[in-house]
Amino acid sequence: MLEKSLQAIFLLSLVSFTYSFPLSTNKRWIINASTGQRVKLACVNWPAHLQPMLAEGLDKKPLGEIVAAVVKMHFNCVRLTWSTFMFTRPNYGHISVSQTLDSLDLKEAKQGISKNNPFILNMTHIQAYEAVVGELGAQGIMVLLDNHISKPDWCCSNTDGNGFFGDRYFDPNEWMKGLSFVADRFKEKRQVVAISLRNELRGPRQNEPDWYKYISEGARVVHKRNPHVLVFVSGLNFDLDLRFLQKSPLALDLDNKAVFLTTRKNPAPLVLSEFGFDQRETWTGPYGLSKEAII
Ligand SMILES: *[C@@H]1O[C@H](CO)[C@@H](O)[C@H](O)[C@H]1NC(C)=O
Ligand SMILES: *[C@@H]1O[C@H](CO)[C@@H](O)[C@H](O)[C@H]1NC(C)=O
Repeated sequence: MLEKSLQAIFLLSLVSFTYSFPLSTNKRWIINASTGQRVKLACVNWPAHLQPMLAEGLDKKPLGEIVAAVVKMHFNCVRLTWSTFMFTRPNYGHISVSQTLDSLDLKEAKQGISKNNPFILNMTHIQAYEAVVGELGAQGIMVLLDNHISKPDWCCSNTDGNGFFGDRYFDPNEWMKGLSFVADRFKEKRQVVAISLRNELRGPRQNEPDWYKYISEGARVVHKRNPHVLVFVSGLNFDLDLRFLQKSPLALDLDNKAVFLTTRKNPAPLVLSEFGFDQRETWTGPYGLSKEAII
């Protein structure tokens, strides 16, 4: 019995340390910076950027079970989304999960969480987010922290005020403050291998000069706080368009990581950051696809 549980602990600790930063890039591949071996990221998108500012599903299953399901399906990574305000505005991220659920009148969700993950209710949103990152690391899953939106909400539309620098909720300085905070806060977490600067840039304000300006600044802010994470960058038009980088690569001096295309000179990894469809089978539009380059 003792031997069995020791074996279990040994296996668990092996699993816990299976993946850790730093990753790097070599031409179009993501590699392990220590060994040079290729690392294939197979991530699940796990939304935590909506109004409740909490990873979805914690009202339905215990956190450990959800993460175990991700492991069982052979994913090795989670793209865990976050909203800027959760980290930059005290009246968002620093209040308790329970308070927010009350203010949104989400009674059922609150009941579900008190049944499945009672420890979450009295946590602040930031603590609850950290608990999710912690459990992912404990079960050997790599984490990409994805800045998905500014104001917690469903994402995305051209007119939601979260689409591009200068939009109603998308103040570039606040965005950088959020990136800086997140890069710093998770820098000791070895499972956090990447930070994505912003999901699906879009909308009437989008333009190339501002893209180069703010994406460069954002990448620098992240790497200043945590030089070990990969930085994912979104293209324009809902992340469907990175063509402008062929004419004018992003001029960042980041250990030769600032390369963007999978072929030609200076190739770079290109990630399909989201695909899938509405599982309620009510969606009749095109399939959602978006892609991000990595520096
Ligand atoms: C990279 O290799 C090191 C040394 O073998 C290992 O500890 C680390 O977990 C690896 N990281 C990934 C993401 O494979
Ligand atoms: C949360 O805090 C309240 C007030 O301090 C307490 O009554 C409640 O039992 C706590 N709930 C949990 C799940 O710890």
